Amino acid sequence: MQAYRILQSQGLGSRRDCRDLIRRQRVLFDSMLVTDPEQELACDNLELSVDGQAYRYRQYAYLALHKPAGYECSRQPRDHASVFSLLPETLLRRGVQCVGRLDQDTTGLLLFSDDGGFIHEHTSPKKQIGKTYRVTCKHPVTPDLIEQLQTGVQLHDEPAPISARFCRAVSEHQLELVIDEGKYHQVKRMLAAAGNRVESLHRSAVGGFVLPDDLAVGAWQWLEAEELSALKTHLENAPSPSPQP
Ligand code: URA
Repeated sequence: MQAYRILQSQGLGSRRDCRDLIRRQRVLFDSMLVTDPEQELACDNLELSVDGQAYRYRQYAYLALHKPAGYECSRQPRDHASVFSLLPETLLRRGVQCVGRLDQDTTGLLLFSDDGGFIHEHTSPKKQIGKTYRVTCKHPVTPDLIEQLQTGVQLHDEPAPISARFCRAVSEHQLELVIDEGKYHQVKRMLAAAGNRVESLHRSAVGGFVLPDDLAVGAWQWLEAEELSALKTHLENAPSPSPQP
């Protein structure tokens, strides 16, 4: 790929900016100075340095954010700040999108990518990728509540009852819930349909990828091969759904 296109693909500026950066000798490609913006270079494992700041070439961006409360999953938020304001300009220029959405008051694991296939795969209900939530409930968690959530609750505008893949009580007012789909306000609506109410909601995992303890609220990290493959697996305590008839 041409040198300036490599920079552009990584969100490092417009076509013109990237050509300029190279001509002004501000960029190293694998520690080598390249001054011709059109020079063809191999991208695999390429290390870039722009004004001394290091970047690794990535064909696609995959990342995890520890979403704080009070942020909307929208580029044009209505009432709160945007989750995109927590990401650097380079990622915004690459056009990363949220992989599914969380409500403004929900905290926890939110994925982003600029890989359309990946976004589709992780948001398609057919793929059955479990999303694990820690739910704090207004009323005590009872065996009946767990039973209803596991066998299925009827939501307005849904043709059939919706069940959790897995549900267990964590404490008197908290439960852990795994759902496969990501319907609008799904957990809140499921709890309401079962006669309780969500006081706070935290997503702790997607598939087998658990929000890292050391990822601070509001911080993000790249997802590497190991984390990407964990997304496709199931958590050990979350049984696979029964086969559909
Ligand atoms: N279910 C909800 O109700 N809200 C979320 O943010 C995610 C799942």
